[in-house]
Amino acid sequence: MGIWSTKSLAQLQGEEGHGHELHRTLTGLQLVLLGIGAIIGAGIFVVTGTAAAQHAGPAILLSFILAGVGCLFAGLCYAEFAAMIPVAGSAYTYGYATLGELVAWIIGWDLMLEYLFASSTVAVGWSGYFTAFLRDYLHLQLPAALTSAPFDIRPGSHIPHATGALVNLPAALLVAVLTGLLTIGIHESARLNNLIVFLKVGVVLLVIGFGAFYVRPENWQPFIPENTGTFGHFGWSGILSGAGVIFFAYIGFDAVSTAAQETRNPQKDLPVGILGSLAVCTVLYMLMALVMTGVAHYSTLNVPEPVYVAIAQAGPALSWLRPIISLGAIAGLASVVLVLLMGQPRIFYAMARDGLLPHFFGQVHPRFRTPYVSTLITGVVAMVVAGLFPIGLLGELVSIGTLFAFVVVCAGILVLRYRRPELPRPFRTPFVPVVPVLGILTCGSLMLGLGVATWLRLGAWMALGLVIYFGYGRRHSRVGHGDTTPAEPPPPDLGGPL
Ligand code: ALA
Repeated sequence: MGIWSTKSLAQLQGEEGHGHELHRTLTGLQLVLLGIGAIIGAGIFVVTGTAAAQHAGPAILLSFILAGVGCLFAGLCYAEFAAMIPVAGSAYTYGYATLGELVAWIIGWDLMLEYLFASSTVAVGWSGYFTAFLRDYLHLQLPAALTSAPFDIRPGSHIPHATGALVNLPAALLVAVLTGLLTIGIHESARLNNLIVFLKVGVVLLVIGFGAFYVRPENWQPFIPENTGTFGHFGWSGILSGAGVIFFAYIGFDAVSTAAQETRNPQKDLPVGILGSLAVCTVLYMLMALVMTGVAHYSTLNVPEPVYVAIAQAGPALSWLRPIISLGAIAGLASVVLVLLMGQPRIFYAMARDGLLPHFFGQVHPRFRTPYVSTLITGVVAMVVAGLFPIGLLGELVSIGTLFAFVVVCAGILVLRYRRPELPRPFRTPFVPVVPVLGILTCGSLMLGLGVATWLRLGAWMALGLVIYFGYGRRHSRVGHGDTTPAEPPPPDLGGPL
């Protein structure tokens, strides 16, 4: 009992099997589509440009490979957990099953960076494409003071400075509208999700396919620009920093694990969904990185809508592609924000059920059957963050937070293999302990690439989390105090990301 108490697998499965059962309809292919829907977003459409311009140049290709390898190791570990504990709560739940309550809290708190802060980040990315679309196609120029963040931090500095802008209004409004939809329970249907996934992938394929003809190989020279003397600014350290930054683009494949309860055959389909979506996106990202840095010089890509700007440099022959890119990014990024805003209350719900957060976080609306309190809390915080901060700062914080969760999941696999070797494992991470150890090392080095300021922000966020845990969660925990009665089943609207 106490901060190291764990929940047994039987207990976890009992909680989920109790009462309302969700329909098990999703197949492996649908999970792959779900994963791609959550993955392709601001990372490739926005962050790639900044990462190439500030960190790696054309060698951003190598950054994508490095980050993809880290995700592959972590994905293999996620797949073992997801098949073994096919229940809600993702890494938070896995942490509770293996490493104890304190670690579970740490992951749960950390996952706020991956879901809540990431939704703000993608909303800021969306705002860039939306503003460009209004400007270029509807001739509506929104004032700069209302379309960018009032605060920014110069590279190497720790102190925010005012930019003169007031608020990123489109980003904040997008979060507000989507929160409203989620509160009253309008779900993105599986069909709409699939449509948006095809649109997004279609846009990426068009950019790759047509952009390839306009590549000027001289833009790839030098492939690895010389380091400027500062860690992370080009050269090999730039590739590492770039990998930490564009790691953001891969976030989302683990969201597949949250659909465990609606999967027809979770043991087989979850690993297919996680690894399949990761594989497709890795290939698309590598090709996209090559085309973007080949069509446009990397130094020109430090803009809010780099894919659009890169294709503009291909000249008038590709001008037909630009509105398609805009619309694909606008619809595609909004769907990522929706999935992320839907994931966060689900984790709050699991934490409130365990007593680590106040009861009202798990409160379900009597009519809408949605977790409306945590949805509104998530929405208000995400809206304020999206309105005030720039994408670079947010994206790096989200990346480091998610990498940290991945490190803990890899460690969890090692611990559970050692402590409970006999448990049935429908999917086994191959080459244990090599794969989890490599996962820890790769994700750990990507974290190192992210620089001191981002580490300090992660430290401050985690310290705040520990204060809340010892001030509240520790005293109210149901598991740590031996209360093992099955919790209420989740409401239908917490059922899954679709
Ligand atoms: N991977 C997601 C994105 O790039 C979070 O937007």
